[in-house]
Amino acid sequence: MNDMHEIIEEIKSRNDIVDIISSYIQVKSAGLNYKALCPFHSEKTPSFSISTQKQIYKCFGCGEGGDVINFVMKMENIDFMEALEFLAQKSGVEINKGKISDESKENINKKQKLYQINLDAARYFFKSMSDLNNNGYKYLKNRGLDDKVIKYFGLGYSRNDWNDLNNYLLKKGYNQQNLIDAGLAIQTKNKKKHINRFRNRVMFPIFDQRGKVIAFGGRVLDNSLPKYLNSSETILFNKRKNLYGLNFAKKNIKNDTLIIVEGYMDVISLFQYGVKNVVASLGTALTIEQAKLIKKYTNKVIVAYDNDEAGINATLKAIDILNGVNLNVKVLNLGKCKDPDEYIRREGLEGFNKLLEDSIPLIQFKIDISKQKYNLNNDQDILLFTKNVANIIKNIKSPIEVEYYINKISKETNISIHAINSEIYGENYKFNKNKKNFKQKEMEEIKIKQNGIEIAEKQIIHIFLNNKKYRKDILMNLDIDDFSFKESKEILNYIIKSNELDIITIDKLKKIGISEEYIQDVYNINIDSNINLNDIINTLQKNSLKRKRDCLLKRQHELQQKKQNDKNIEASEVDRELLDIAMKIIQLEKEMKNIL
Ligand code: UTP
Ligand code: MN
Repeated sequence: MNDMHEIIEEIKSRNDIVDIISSYIQVKSAGLNYKALCPFHSEKTPSFSISTQKQIYKCFGCGEGGDVINFVMKMENIDFMEALEFLAQKSGVEINKGKISDESKENINKKQKLYQINLDAARYFFKSMSDLNNNGYKYLKNRGLDDKVIKYFGLGYSRNDWNDLNNYLLKKGYNQQNLIDAGLAIQTKNKKKHINRFRNRVMFPIFDQRGKVIAFGGRVLDNSLPKYLNSSETILFNKRKNLYGLNFAKKNIKNDTLIIVEGYMDVISLFQYGVKNVVASLGTALTIEQAKLIKKYTNKVIVAYDNDEAGINATLKAIDILNGVNLNVKVLNLGKCKDPDEYIRREGLEGFNKLLEDSIPLIQFKIDISKQKYNLNNDQDILLFTKNVANIIKNIKSPIEVEYYINKISKETNISIHAINSEIYGENYKFNKNKKNFKQKEMEEIKIKQNGIEIAEKQIIHIFLNNKKYRKDILMNLDIDDFSFKESKEILNYIIKSNELDIITIDKLKKIGISEEYIQDVYNINIDSNINLNDIINTLQKNSLKRKRDCLLKRQHELQQKKQNDKNIEASEVDRELLDIAMKIIQLEKEMKNIL
């Protein structure tokens, strides 16, 4: 092992925090957690708590807290690397010391120190905030934040003072260079003095995804500029790679979706109202790194940037980047409100949830934006608009989605589907011919596959009847709906309902009405000795998804016919269902691809 991150994780996983702490002090179990008298300050009733689940400790008396490595550092009074070595030895992890250069050792210790400084500074700002007469607190109250959310996000106040934080941290034992490295102190022009970087601002601690403070954003209390001052980039803080609020949002993901906003205040305000799956890209253009970070946690994202020109331009850029890492992207339409913060204050949680439901798919958003540029009563403009939309549609990967939008645009502009297709795919586009070939080929493939699926299903039933130990695996991975034969379904239903634990005999099958022919097939089916149960299960899963998709395709076809033939129907309703179907089909196809 030589990747530092890997080593740390390995060491942490091998040293249970309760084991280590209880080798120093007496701990008592209290529900899921453990309690003890804090070893870092003197007390009579235990306020030191250990979470087995999170593998961290925290003292509610003195504020000390951290993971098993922090504990050992503190207890043994050693630095980070020494603590790692200490725990590695205890648990038999071999650290390949040759691989960890002195440089990276130094780097790790430096980082640890910066984390600590940031945490101390955050506590200091928070303490200043809790003096209720300070201007920062008044400002946040004015903006409608409640005490609970101020505390949850650790919001603080930097006093209108040139030195208070600097001196406080020096007194704590850090040196001046540490404070400069952390981006909290700056040198005066004549280089004689060091002063606080942040003065008279509301302080937003910026957390990394694990919840460690890595930087600050400070907002002015009036209209002066810059509105927000951020910590300079440090070895901990790279704006491009971080998303504000991710540490909280990742625990609150809803419907596999994260909402992405511009600002601190959007995240916090939405959180206060109960929308907690929100992260902010902090006013910069969204980066690929941030998109990948989101993709680690979800498959869907809703962009809710500010509703001004800058915000819309940023949205157009962001949605391509997000789409580029295969996220399903939608955009929020804030209407007359300038940002999500303002919207939820006006319309409340219910209003905001409705807005989320109505969020606009990426392609539709692009088309809407394009439409605003043209006057669709003018033929020349209609043509330009259609060309523009053809360019947008060109980038869609799913043929079903392409068809949906082409139909829609054709309706809106009265330009034929054929012409739009030619615009997208060039002059040689032969609509009918291509379509037919594709259909024919697919039908042939289906025929060949059908046989294989029949065999797979009967093999599974054979295994199910004769090998009790595989029954659980099969039931865990397949639903009754995944089977095609009604006999297969009957057998499974019978066994689940009757809780039958034995091997099922032919007689029993006959008794519950399974046809002779089916029973023969199942019992005589060829089961190779190196057959792989997973492979068969996958085949059935895939087939089941395919059947569901085919059903949707059929419904899609019906709806399209209906739209063409019946002039009285509510077109927008049908469009909505069509889009819904298109989305579901895409989802099913994704799932099919995920099964190897
Ligand atoms: P906004 O100007 O929209 O601020 O910038 P906001 O979050 O809505 O804040 P309020 O409601 O006016 O207090 C969006 C984000 O851009 C970054 C900040 O991260 C901010 O939250 N920003 C903005 C800066 O870093 N510096 C600035 O001067 C302005
Ligand atoms: Mn804003």
